[in-house]
Amino acid sequence: MSSGNAFNETHAHRGDQPIDMAELRRYRQGAGAPAAELESAVGQARRVTLSWSDGRSGQFPLMWLRDHCACDQCRHPMTRERLYKLLDDPLWERFEGDEALASLEFDARSLTLVWQDGHVSRFDAGWLYQRCPGEELATLLPTPTPWRAGFAPEHVEHADFVGDSEGRSRWVSALLRDGLVMLDRGPCELEEVSRIAESIGPMRSTNFGGRFDVRSVPNPNNAAYTAIGLELHTDLPNWRQPPDIQLLYCLENDAEGGESSFADGFAAAEILRAEKPDAFRVLSETPIDFRFQDDGHDIAVREPVIDLDAEGRPREIRFNNWIRDTLSLPLDRIEAWYDAYRAFWQILRRPEGRVELTLAPGQMVAFDNRRVLHGRNAFDPNTGKRHLQGTYLDLDMLQSHLRVLSR
Ligand SMILES: [Fe+2]
Repeated sequence: MSSGNAFNETHAHRGDQPIDMAELRRYRQGAGAPAAELESAVGQARRVTLSWSDGRSGQFPLMWLRDHCACDQCRHPMTRERLYKLLDDPLWERFEGDEALASLEFDARSLTLVWQDGHVSRFDAGWLYQRCPGEELATLLPTPTPWRAGFAPEHVEHADFVGDSEGRSRWVSALLRDGLVMLDRGPCELEEVSRIAESIGPMRSTNFGGRFDVRSVPNPNNAAYTAIGLELHTDLPNWRQPPDIQLLYCLENDAEGGESSFADGFAAAEILRAEKPDAFRVLSETPIDFRFQDDGHDIAVREPVIDLDAEGRPREIRFNNWIRDTLSLPLDRIEAWYDAYRAFWQILRRPEGRVELTLAPGQMVAFDNRRVLHGRNAFDPNTGKRHLQGTYLDLDMLQSHLRVLSR
């Protein structure tokens, strides 16, 4: 095909039979996926250039196309996992030149490649459209969005959550976007929180178990099991991977006090960066020690309070004043670290950035524990009962849930 368009052939549309790409996400035209039709396909040197009816065009390297063949020999028909091994392909060296491809055909909805070794690869045009190199494959997941002044969490009715996928999608989307969402008017039943969690994924266990009770108990090993107020914090920052998502389900709440409060750690970090860049740098560049100890455990990690991703955006907040361990820093950095920590804490305390609410029996709050801080006011256990049940979930399970719901 050194002539440039030796395989630029046009064929009439051959019907609606979709090509199975071993992919559960929607990609077929007309099923909520790309509506554009394939208009041309040109094999040239080591790539195939495709154009669609809406103007999109893209180049696909031959080696990429061969690697993504979805036939039963190249993808396991049950698991959909890749069987093709580029390392063992004798054709591989020839993908760099123009000899690997024997012929190319296409119609509005498919591309068929015949390789020099006789192997045939068929691609659905909508699937290729979604995966055009240089075009981002839409993630299906909402972008985390910092709270602005006046932010209020979305509320979803428990009946809508369990009853239809729309209510469930709305709840998951709000949690991924805002890091905080409410579920209202559920049953006051023990373990309802476990049923909700397990409808999404396995509960994430910690040294406090898979599912925990929040109420005042004798001889507590954790401040949450007392009646004292809890300053804003993230749970278990002393773990290498703290739990991602926390669910707190209210069963009883008639004691005086005990109001819950939340603050967006990512938004607070951005405010700190804007107002006190030096403090932001100190908290994001200085690992400190977090540690929990009781008779059977000593769980410790050294990480910064504000962890940044490769682009410099906050990825995780670790803030929990009562399990901060000895501050072990060089002498000339100790005062600067305390100043920065105080500045961040003051921003977190600002009323305009906080959400305060009183959980009602049958109400559940869910939040991103690695982004949103939570706390509660002291309550008086002599005025009534307060009982919450909680558990944790991995973010992977939440994202997976939304992708499955969108199929
Ligand atoms: Fe907590």
